[in-house]
Order: sequence, then C-alpha cells, then structure tokens
Amino acid sequence: MRIIYKSPDEIRVMRESGLIAAEILEELCQAAKPGVSTWDLDQIARRGIEKHKVKSAFLGYASPPYPAVLCTSINEVIVHGIPRKNEILKDGDIIGIDFGIFHKGYCADTARTVMIGQVSQEKMDLVTTARDALEKGIELCRVGNRLGDIGHAIQSYAESHGYSVVTQFVGHGTGRQMHEDPQVPNYGKPNDGKRIKSGLVIAVEPMVNAGAPEVEVLDDNWTAVTKDRSMSAHFEHTIAITDDGPWVLTRPSSTPGNVG
Ligand code: MF3
Ligand code: CO
Ligand code: CO
Repeated sequence: MRIIYKSPDEIRVMRESGLIAAEILEELCQAAKPGVSTWDLDQIARRGIEKHKVKSAFLGYASPPYPAVLCTSINEVIVHGIPRKNEILKDGDIIGIDFGIFHKGYCADTARTVMIGQVSQEKMDLVTTARDALEKGIELCRVGNRLGDIGHAIQSYAESHGYSVVTQFVGHGTGRQMHEDPQVPNYGKPNDGKRIKSGLVIAVEPMVNAGAPEVEVLDDNWTAVTKDRSMSAHFEHTIAITDDGPWVLTRPSSTPGNVG
C-alpha cells in the first residue's frame, strides 16, 4: 500500500473533522464520572454524531464488526474495550476513550485516558507519562524527520519512566480510510524508517503499560488487555504535517506549526 498525501484543501476539511471529534471527545471526558456506564458514554457519543451529522468511523468496522461508536478501555484494558450496560465507572478507575468519525469523507481519530475520581499516584503517573509521550512524538512530526524518530521519542520517554510501550498495535496514516499507510509504531530508532513529507496525516497513539508490553485479546475478539494485567494508558491525536510544522487537527488550540 502507498501513502496518500493530502492537499492543503483536504487538510482544511480534516481540521473540521478533527474539531468535531475533539468537541465530542471533550464532552465524553466530562461525562465520565463514577456511576456512569461505558454504554452511557457510547449513547452520548451517538447523540454527538447525530448533532454534527457525521459518521462513526468505528461502528461496523472490521470483523467481527465493531458494535459501538467508542472504544472504552478501563484499567488493564489497553485499547478496543467495548462499551457495555453493566460496566460502571468507579472511583479510582482510569478509562481510555477512543473516538473516530468521518466528516465530508475524512477521518479524525482521537483518544484520551481520563482518571475517575481519586486515583492512585501510580495510575496518575502512568496517565501523565502516556500523555506526555504523545507530546514528545508530536514534536517530531516535521518534514525531513523519519517515522523512527517519532517512535523513538515515545518509547524512550515512556521507558525512562519505567514503563513499556505496546508494539502489537501502532499508529497509522488516516484520511478517506481510518487506517491508511504508513504504520506509525510507538517504538523505533532515530533516523530510521520512512522520511516524513508535507501532506502526511497520521494518528499517533502511544499505548503505555505499567508492566510488560505483551497483549492478550479477550474472547470477544476485540478487548485488548495487558497479559500481566498491569494498568495501561492510551492517548491519540490526528496530526497533519505541514510545511510550517505539525498541526494537531484534533486539538482546538493548535494551528499549523503550533502544537497548541
Ligand atoms: N480508533 C482505533 C485506532 O486508534 C481503532 C478502533 S477499531 C474499531 O486505530 F473497531 F473500534 F473501530
Ligand atoms: Co483511535
Ligand atoms: Co488510531
């Protein structure tokens, strides 16, 4: 498969998509409180999708067809947790909320891990490190750098804090399809891999585990948990690489060349 570079006009449409996805994700993060079910969060996201007249990027995706518009990944769940009526958030949980849409045919894919009520210092440190690891990666989303530079920045930051990065799942190009080339691993070597060109749009999404990096997929064929059942945190932004620098399309305060 080949990388599909986007024109400035396409990137402006992807920015619209990113802003809508960001607005709905923000609403979901605010709604994530003790006593709320992951099903409730999915319902809120569905209402946002209707309000903005966009399309879910997740519903019906792949096989078995993904059954929801959100992934809700609590504690030892790394990614792809399925919202459920009987799964209730409780004080001390961490939950990764991953949300993706198509707007005017273009995808925006973004995720955040939020802390529910009072969480342990251990969980707080993990979440903060995963969030900051994404920022280290974003900083290197520049013309002339290589994909290995992004992965290396994320991996070395997470590992320097005593955590591991998941290698079984990776970030990705995005555009008319949610998952396009290239793959964007959260690990790598400096000055290695494909060179980054203007017009590349990628979803960068570190998954950081408190323990070992190994993954186990549960019987529903989606839910990915840490094999050692240690805690895991996930953050994701859709980023356009412009001649001026990175534009974090799913972050309202970002402008071309200013990560926001
Ligand atoms: N949004 C996820 C990613 O970041 C993929 C979700 S798969 C789905 O790549 F089936 F839930 F859509
Ligand atoms: Co995602
Ligand atoms: Co993604």
